[in-house]
This record gives sequence, structure tokens and C-alpha cells, in this order.
Amino acid sequence: MGSSIDDIYFLGRDKTETERLNKQHRFLLAVSDGKLIHPAIPTDNITAVADIGTGTGVWLEDLAKILPFSKSLNLHGFDISSAQFPPGNEVIVSGKPSIPLTVHDALNPYPVEHQGRYDLVHIRLLVAGIKEDDYAVVLKNARDLLKPMGYIQWEEVDTSAFSTNQRPEYPLITSLRAVVIRGMQKVGFCIFAPQRVFDEVLRGGFSNSQLVRHTTIGKEHLHYEAVKWVSSIIRILVTKSLFVLGEAESEKKAAGEVEKIVQRFEEHAEGALPLVNLGVVVAQRNDSE
Ligand SMILES: C[S@@+](CC[C@H](N)C(=O)[O-])C[C@H]1O[C@@H](n2cnc3c(N)ncnc32)[C@H](O)[C@@H]1O
Repeated sequence: MGSSIDDIYFLGRDKTETERLNKQHRFLLAVSDGKLIHPAIPTDNITAVADIGTGTGVWLEDLAKILPFSKSLNLHGFDISSAQFPPGNEVIVSGKPSIPLTVHDALNPYPVEHQGRYDLVHIRLLVAGIKEDDYAVVLKNARDLLKPMGYIQWEEVDTSAFSTNQRPEYPLITSLRAVVIRGMQKVGFCIFAPQRVFDEVLRGGFSNSQLVRHTTIGKEHLHYEAVKWVSSIIRILVTKSLFVLGEAESEKKAAGEVEKIVQRFEEHAEGALPLVNLGVVVAQRNDSE
């Protein structure tokens, strides 16, 4: 526990990656049928929401647009790095109180003024940032942010699920998946993150827990976006995996090889739909357990 994330984080934090995160947000939202907040969470009285590992703050930005104006509206983003925060470390949405973003490592307890303060805590895509052994502590710290009966919504992709709807599976995909699984396991990341989060939630401290899976199956209208999203994930995860496994001398060399793989994947995906697998864990803080 407690290793600095900058040692292990698989993604970059430059301008290109910032743009990718914002595009990814639109795509994942479409995969989740446009629902920022899962329908099992009542939104009528939500005024305080924290987003952990907020990145660019794009999820909070969209949330502010749909929540009714209230002077007590209190949205807050936390991230281990401010590199992708908007200028001034705040998200501005016209007609809404500004949304502060602060630097905080999810492995550490939050400052006391934040504890017990939020109706909803949202987490999305820490899978390539925190080790599997640290999920429990991230969840405990997140739970401490919640009011009694407050909700958590934790969304992760299943990185074991590189796939398309074509059978038998295209051999390139089988080998990509194997490299990513080995690379992520070497670092200690979890390859079945949605199920792992759900298991952790079921250990206690929550009730009304559920794991909902969203996929691209039946969403042919997302074909183009799905191909582009999976390509971007191949670039990141395969490049980094080859490097951490010692199968490429440098990330630059690995990136050159991976570009050829992406080209082959995109040719294959002209006639096959990439099956994206987003798991959303929803649960309610329960203090009587
Ligand atoms: C893939 S990005 C997702 C950003 C955002 N949640 C979204 O869905 O657009 C992962 C984010 O988690 C952050 N992160 C990684 N490890 C963290 C930690 N230990 N504590 C807080 N944030 C962390 C990274 O800095 C990055 O901004």
C-alpha cells in the first residue's frame, strides 16, 4: 500500500491524453446510455458530490449542467495530480457555483472537513493507477466522505475484455489481451476491476449493492467511436505492458510496434464491433452493519 502513483500510472498526463480523457468521457457516457448517475441512485436531493481521480474534471462538469442550481451545490474533484486540471484548478460551468479540484492521493484519508459531507462519491477508471491490493483502502477512504446512506458509484473497465463480436476470435486480439494481462499483473494492477470493486463493496459497510455491466453489444451506432477508443487503449496498455515486461527496450520502440498492431486491429474492426465492457458498482453507505 501507499506507493506513489507516479511510479506506476500507466497513462500520460500531457495535452493529448487530456483530450483523450475528455473524448473517452463522451464515449463511456454513450455506452452507459447517457446516464451520468445510475438510475438506482435517487438524484432529487443530491447537492454534494465528490469525484475521486477526477482527471480533467469532465464528469463533474457534465454533472453540474444537469443538477438544478442551488447555493448549497457542492461539487468537488480530487486527484493525485493537478496536471490535467483546468486553469485555476476549478471547473467553471455557467450559472453554477465553481467546482474546486484539489490534489489528494486516494490512498490517504481525506481532510476532516470533507468527511461525512457527500451524498454521492463517484470514481471512474483508477484501474491503471492503483494496485489491486489498494482497492480496499481507496474504498474505505471514499466511504468516509459519504453522509450516512450516501451512495458510491465506481466505474471500471474490464481490461481482460479486449474483444470484438467476431468468432472465432481474431488471433491478434487474443495475443494483445495476453500481453496486457501479463503487464498489468506485473505492476500489481487488477485485470477484473469491476468484479474486484464489487467484491470489496460486498465485504461490508454498504447495502443495496449492485454491479451493472454496460457494453457496446447492440450499439452499432457507436461502432466508429468504439474502434477509436479501443485503439487508444491498445496504444496505452500494450505499449506500457511491453515495456514493463522487458519485451521492448524503450516505450518509444514499443510504441512503433504497437502502431502496426493498431492498424491491423482497425482493419479487423471494419467488419467487427469492439465489445467494450464497463462495470458500474453502485452501493449505499450503511452504518448499521
Ligand atoms: C484514466 S484517468 C480517469 C479520469 C476521470 N476519472 C475520468 O473518468 O475521466 C485516471 C485518473 O486517476 C488519477 N489517479 C491515479 N491514481 C490516483 C490516486 N492514488 N489517487 C487519486 N487519483 C489517482 C490519475 O491521476 C488520473 O487523473
